[in-house]
Amino acid sequence: MSITALVNQKGGVGKTTVTLGLAAAYAARGRRVLVVDLDPQANATTGLGVYEVNHAIDTALLSDASGSVNAVIQKAGWSHPEFPIPVDIAPSSPQLAKCEPQLATDMIGAQDRLAVALEGVAERYDDVLIDCAPSLGLLTVNALFAADRVLIVAEPAAWSSDGVDQILLNVRRIAERRAGRPEVAGIVINRLGRTRDAQHWFGVLNEAHPGLVLDPPVKLRAAVTEAAAMSEPVLALSRDGAAQAAAEFTALSLLLDPEATQPQAVTREAALSEAVLPEVALPAVAPSWDETAAVASTGEI
Ligand SMILES: Nc1ncnc2c1ncn2[C@@H]1O[C@H](COP(=O)(O)OP(=O)(O)OP(=O)(O)O)[C@@H](O)[C@H]1O
Ligand SMILES: [Mg+2]
Repeated sequence: MSITALVNQKGGVGKTTVTLGLAAAYAARGRRVLVVDLDPQANATTGLGVYEVNHAIDTALLSDASGSVNAVIQKAGWSHPEFPIPVDIAPSSPQLAKCEPQLATDMIGAQDRLAVALEGVAERYDDVLIDCAPSLGLLTVNALFAADRVLIVAEPAAWSSDGVDQILLNVRRIAERRAGRPEVAGIVINRLGRTRDAQHWFGVLNEAHPGLVLDPPVKLRAAVTEAAAMSEPVLALSRDGAAQAAAEFTALSLLLDPEATQPQAVTREAALSEAVLPEVALPAVAPSWDETAAVASTGEI
C-alpha cells in the first residue's frame, strides 16, 4: 500500500487529470484504488462520475476520528459498459473550503487530520491517490502529512520550476518532522505540447531537477480534455490520441508502482505489454500524438 499526494500550488496544471489517469491505469491492472478528493472544486469527484455525494471528505476531517474516511467512501461512477473500472472515491464538496479555517483553530491536530482519518482504511487499498487543491495551505499540508510520497505535477511553462522549488522546500520541512516522509516520487510534466516554448520549459525543468522528472511526460491531447468532460477514463475513449494518452499513464503507473521490481527498466513498450487491458487496442509502439485534434481544441501549435 502506498499513499501518494499529487500537488502543485499552481492551478490548472493537471493534478486531477494525472490523479485520474493513474487511478485508471492502476485499477485496470487489478489494483485496489482509492482516490481522495482534497479540493473543494471537487473535480476528481465529478471526473469519476460521482454527482451525488452523501458525505464528503470535510465531514471525515472535522470528526477527528481514526478511520473516519471509511464512512464517506463511494464507488466511482466510471460506468462505461466495456470499461467498468472499479475505483473508490472519498468525495469532496464545496463545503471543504469552509473546513480549512475550522481545522486551523485546532492547536494540536490541524496538520494530521487526514492521516488520522485514513488510519485502518488506506491499508485496504494498493494505491491511495490524494488529489490536492491548487494551494500550499492546510489541506495540502494535511495531504503531505498523510502521504508516503509526493508526486509533483507541473506544466512546461514559465515560472514552473520556481513553483516546484517551493513545493520541494515544503516537502523537505515536513519530511524532517516525519522521519523522511513523504518522499518525492518525482515530477510529472503534463500538457507537453510541440511549441518551442513548451520544449524550452521542459528542458529547463529537466535541468533544474535532474533525476526527478519522470519519463514519459503526458502530452497535450484533445482526448484527455474530452475524457474529463465525459467523466470517463481516457482509456475508454476510442478517439485519436486516447490510446496514446492511456499508454503514458500506464507507463507512469508502472514507474511509480512500489511493487515493480525494476522501475528504472520500464520502457513505454514494456508498460504497454504488461498492462492488463484486454479490451483496449493499445498500439505496440505509441505513435505520435494527435496534434491536429489538440490544435483544434487548444490553439496550441
Ligand atoms: N494532457 C492534457 N491534454 C489536454 N488537456 C489537458 C491535459 N491535462 C489537463 N488538461 C485539461 O486542463 C484542464 C486543467 O486540468 P486539471 O483540472 O487536471 O488541472 P488541476 O491542476 O487539477 O487544476 P486545479 O488546480 O484547478 O485543481 C482541464 O480542462 C483538463 O481537462
Ligand atoms: Mg484539480
